[in-house]
Amino acid sequence: MIKRYQSQNQIVWYDEQLLLEPPEQVFNVDFWQQQNSVVGSAQGRGTTWFVQTQVLQAALRHYRRGGLFGKLVSDSYWFSGWEKTRSYAEFRLLTQLADAGVNVPKPIAARVIKKGFTYQADLLSEKIANAKDLVGILQHKDLQPKKYQAIGAEIAKMHKAYVNHTDLNIHNLLLDSSGKIWIIDFDKCYQQQGTDWQQSNLDRLLRSFRKEQKKRNIHWNEDDFGHLMDGYNTTI
Ligand SMILES: Nc1ncnc2c1ncn2[C@@H]1O[C@H](COP(=O)(O)OP(=O)(O)O)[C@@H](O)[C@H]1O
Ligand SMILES: [Mg+2]
Repeated sequence: MIKRYQSQNQIVWYDEQLLLEPPEQVFNVDFWQQQNSVVGSAQGRGTTWFVQTQVLQAALRHYRRGGLFGKLVSDSYWFSGWEKTRSYAEFRLLTQLADAGVNVPKPIAARVIKKGFTYQADLLSEKIANAKDLVGILQHKDLQPKKYQAIGAEIAKMHKAYVNHTDLNIHNLLLDSSGKIWIIDFDKCYQQQGTDWQQSNLDRLLRSFRKEQKKRNIHWNEDDFGHLMDGYNTTI
């Protein structure tokens, strides 16, 4: 069941099965630090903190802007309704994807703090255990065609759930030690009818492989994308 905690200027939506800690506290890194429950971190646009909850390990992320505009208002967004916020939208989308059987982190809680006409947002989601992102992996080794097919198949599953991942790059694909592929980072993503938008996700992903090959010399070549597309085409 999804529950709601509300005070004057904030709402937290949370899954009562997955969150036993006080919902108004769990977005505070200090809360986890005080009980020695910070188990790691990862660097993206900002810092993602990994924490040990009573139920599982979780990833805590504060929503931030990138780019030049982000230097001015790094974490403020225009408020136009509680359910139109970044964190609530991502929470909903992750729920729908998990229900559809796509490998995504289970959402645990989403918070919005309203500050006048703007808001700040945070998300707590399941940490994918024993996983690394593709950029990290491909810097050390190449992947077998079967793994690329599995990546393509997972993207096809996401598309069959009508989800347009507007930032599908190889930092947002994780591979765990059991060989499962996971898709993360659904900020600004949305459900869309039809199919004409699907190719743009795959184009974006191909650009990401090419870019990281130039930049970090990852173990990847154009044939690998062919294997990925094989997996996609047999699943879609
Ligand atoms: N649920 C998760 N499980 C494991 N690692 C995660 C998870 N969420 C994020 N990460 C790690 O943190 C990094 C940044 O998180 P991400 O959600 O992509 O935010 P952003 O790209 O906006 O900084 C990811 O590339 C990944 O390495
Ligand atoms: Mg990301």
